[in-house]
Amino acid sequence: MRMKKKRHGSERIALLSQLVAKNPADVANNPSEFFGNSNSLRVEIGCGKGDFIRGKSVQEPDYNYLAIEKISDVCTVATEKYAVSRGLGSMAPNGGWQKPDGAIYVLGGEEVDFSDLDRGNVRFAVGDAAELLKDFPDNSVDAIYINFCDPWGKKGYAKRRLTYIGFLEMYSRILVNGGKLHFKTDNRELFDFSLEQVEISKFDLKYKTYDLHASDMNEVNIETEYERNFTEKGFKINMIIAENKK
Ligand SMILES: C[S@@+](CC[C@H](N)C(=O)[O-])C[C@H]1O[C@@H](n2cnc3c(N)ncnc32)[C@H](O)[C@@H]1O
Repeated sequence: MRMKKKRHGSERIALLSQLVAKNPADVANNPSEFFGNSNSLRVEIGCGKGDFIRGKSVQEPDYNYLAIEKISDVCTVATEKYAVSRGLGSMAPNGGWQKPDGAIYVLGGEEVDFSDLDRGNVRFAVGDAAELLKDFPDNSVDAIYINFCDPWGKKGYAKRRLTYIGFLEMYSRILVNGGKLHFKTDNRELFDFSLEQVEISKFDLKYKTYDLHASDMNEVNIETEYERNFTEKGFKINMIIAENKK
């Protein structure tokens, strides 16, 4: 995702650090400490500005969600939008954070204090999911969502695609038996590649569509920022749901 560098991006996300996991593996190791409940954990890889995870966390609130985004400024925006959506305040005119009661937290100052209830069921993490997920324990995740990841279309780049068999093996390890991988893309070549990779993996293909918005899954579909954009340009959206079989 391209984004102009944010002014004070790192200070802004630092203010909301109670919504951010510094070491994401800790969330997987001990979700109840982070969320105050023992609900199963779901992970989104490459959350962008977080439209999907905000929608999903409301649509299926009985799960905890970790949204990983490798670009820090993008993760800052996702975290701020989530906080606004939960009524936890908004950006203050000076660039800090203003709580609904009017209290202002200045950039570089103390982090904003939220209760467990305020924080809700989503946490964000900055970093490369391919690296971060390596530290997750076996069987610690209920579902993984990958929406509109980079197709890495050039020859020789297959191993970088987030649906390459090497990644599917890691997802299989950290997912519980029966856990689901959900994948959406506008890119037909990446989709066909992903189907081939699922075929040789431990995942069972449970659902596939070449036109999500015309399918019976559209009713429960949560549109992402990229999905909206590609759909407006006339692209069809492909989706896979695959189940982990250990
Ligand atoms: C094309 S955008 C899609 C954003 C969002 N998922 C959507 O559908 O609107 C892909 C996002 O994934 C992030 N990303 C790509 N590879 C990643 C990785 N290995 N770990 C974490 N984030 C990644 C990018 O920085 C970018 O924000």
